[in-house]
Amino acid sequence: MPLTIHSAPRISVEDARAIAYGVYRVRGEAEPLPSERDQNFLLHAGVEKFVLKLANREEDRATLDFQNRAWEHLAAKGVLAPRLIPSRNGQPIADAGGCAVRLFTWIEGERLASIRTHSSALLASVGGLVARIDAALEDFHHPAAVRRLHWDIAHADAASEHLPLLPPRRRTLVEQYFTAWKNIPWSELRRSVIHGDCNDHNIIVRDGNAVAILDLGDSVQTATVCDLAIAVAYTILDKPDPLAAAAQIVAAYHQRYPLRDAEISAIFPLAMTRLAMSVCYSAFNARAAADDAYQQVSAAGAWRILERMAPVSAHDVAERFRAGHAGDDRERLLSRRRAHIGPSLSISYKQPLHIVRGWRQFLYDPDWRAYLDCVNNVAHVGHAHPRVTSAIAEQSARLNTNTRYLHELILEYSERLAATLPDPLSVVYLVCSGSEANELALRLARAHTHRRDVVVLDAAYHGNTNALIDLSPYKYDGPGGAGRPAWVHQAKMPDVYRGPHAGADPGARYAEYVAAAVEEAKGNGGVAAFFAESALGCGGQIILPPGYFAVSYAAVRAAGGVCVADEVQTGFGRAGTHFWMFETQGVTPDIVTLGKPIGNGHPMGAVITTPEIARSFANGMEYFNTFGGNPVSCAAGLAVLDVIREEQLQENARDTGADLLARLRDLARKHESIGDVRGHGLFIGIEFVRDRAVRTPDAAIASAAVERIKEAGVLLSTDGPDHNVIKIKPPMCFTREDGGTVVEQLDRVLEELENEPRQ
Ligand SMILES: Cc1ncc(COP(=O)(O)O)c(C=O)c1O
Repeated sequence: MPLTIHSAPRISVEDARAIAYGVYRVRGEAEPLPSERDQNFLLHAGVEKFVLKLANREEDRATLDFQNRAWEHLAAKGVLAPRLIPSRNGQPIADAGGCAVRLFTWIEGERLASIRTHSSALLASVGGLVARIDAALEDFHHPAAVRRLHWDIAHADAASEHLPLLPPRRRTLVEQYFTAWKNIPWSELRRSVIHGDCNDHNIIVRDGNAVAILDLGDSVQTATVCDLAIAVAYTILDKPDPLAAAAQIVAAYHQRYPLRDAEISAIFPLAMTRLAMSVCYSAFNARAAADDAYQQVSAAGAWRILERMAPVSAHDVAERFRAGHAGDDRERLLSRRRAHIGPSLSISYKQPLHIVRGWRQFLYDPDWRAYLDCVNNVAHVGHAHPRVTSAIAEQSARLNTNTRYLHELILEYSERLAATLPDPLSVVYLVCSGSEANELALRLARAHTHRRDVVVLDAAYHGNTNALIDLSPYKYDGPGGAGRPAWVHQAKMPDVYRGPHAGADPGARYAEYVAAAVEEAKGNGGVAAFFAESALGCGGQIILPPGYFAVSYAAVRAAGGVCVADEVQTGFGRAGTHFWMFETQGVTPDIVTLGKPIGNGHPMGAVITTPEIARSFANGMEYFNTFGGNPVSCAAGLAVLDVIREEQLQENARDTGADLLARLRDLARKHESIGDVRGHGLFIGIEFVRDRAVRTPDAAIASAAVERIKEAGVLLSTDGPDHNVIKIKPPMCFTREDGGTVVEQLDRVLEELENEPRQ
């Protein structure tokens, strides 16, 4: 039989006051307290405070008696507990306003939920408190404790009935936890009466220690470890490292009231089930009683943690609980890296991260700490997307070979890719990286124009080969760079914030630098190609001003050159409004190069050009690429295209990006250190300055913010010639809530940094 969720009585504040006086002779103001099933009021009677509890009409007297006796039992065992005040007629349970009424003493203190930062000592005290309660209730029995309660995790099936109310993707997520719940070995778990609702709104804190718990309304006889699991579930919500917090609670509990092995294994699945139940009941209540705020209290936080914990192995978590502390072998890994990995490769962060798992927009360390990945534009449709991983696995189990045989996949993929591009871009070359794509684009341009010279933008990066280092100012002008070769001509990048032309028609003004570079090339045999990203990554997340490509391309083409749009960072719907970022400029390039997101991490790249340029390249010398276009890569590429469409990721980039950009612009109003916020879709830059008038770049605050926000579980990084731009280009399944997390954490971190003395 499905369990029903009772609705609380609805007594007015005036009636509550009248009841307090009439039944208990307590005179004072009544203040409503939140509750799901009962109705509670805080009574202010002079210096004294009481809680007036009006039970749900359906609550039977035996249940209320059970709760009253449980409180007495706890108090007798030395646990700080509310004391029952009998009515003036001496009744523990009185009748008034059509309800059963009880009065308890008020326990002074702060609710755990209202304390923003939870120290290790506080978390340990939560574990200790729950342990004391469970130990005290171990020998408590009451016939009414044996009941079927819809919040009892042992009856999670009651909550799972509401699964159809959830949207499909969320349903799949929650189902996973209910499946794990079915495998909990209940017979191996000790049973006793538990508090049943050790959530952060019920835990009272004094002087940084959890000292008491309120509300026995969900008390029930069930598996004892459920109490700890419930405390863990609600305490870890929105913690930067939820499992570290959980481990601290568990360790303190275990010290006071030792857990059995099966119980340790059950904590994580039980805690997640409780949150899964919570979101199911929230969905049900949102339908049944849209104004029931209590149910919604933890729904958003619950969703976040359910999402983050989705790939987490319960076995690993149990091992961590058993070990009691996090393992850290970063130093050993670093020294192995130093021994065998080329030292020219840098590693992110002062304290490098050891990442062992990716899932959607999150990366995980060995302790299952989740990091919100805001910079990886390779894991385009989400880390480890099952559609992509199974496409790769299935095809590699069937066939992986070169492209000198007929095969459907290379054709299907090339057709699908070409269909995303405007005419006459229809000839596809499949390669293995962005560098290979640009390298080939250079050869195509030279074969077509019979020229050598290239125009590039300041601070551009196009790849790691010899020729591409030569046409990447970011490299040849940087440390170890050999400077600009004679065949490369550099144009000022169209940075409307920092550059000279912010006023009228900056697109045309900046295009003049391209025209000038084209002129310069004329003296050297003429321009073969203009290479430019459709929004500048290494340049500092620069969005091109309107008209920039149109005027630049016209100048290049008038001089006989071809225009190459490097979409390695920007392609595949990231622009949101368009599938390709160059489309935002209203132009059609002659050659488009693709990489990074194309295979969601599978090493792939592509060049798409016109039949005319392709014919020029077919000059007798074969172009062969051993791995490019192999069936496994094509299967990966097709899966990526499918997921972008089916999960509406381009639309998500448009909406989530616009929302995030607006919120970051609001943040810029508050923080002087933010000089500029710019972006298009999910390609966003935040530029930091020392002072807004002169716009002196502030790399120090940008990098300090990146380091500090990482501690809160958010991964960002810096870019731009002055290293003062924080870039945001996350997997495209990034949500508005994720954007909210970034803004909230950035706000906090900037607040701290702006108020600290400068180094
Ligand atoms: C704009 C741009 N083009 C090309 C490349 C080179 O791609 P890959 O590293 O796959 O060779 C990169 C890599 O960062 C890039 O950002």
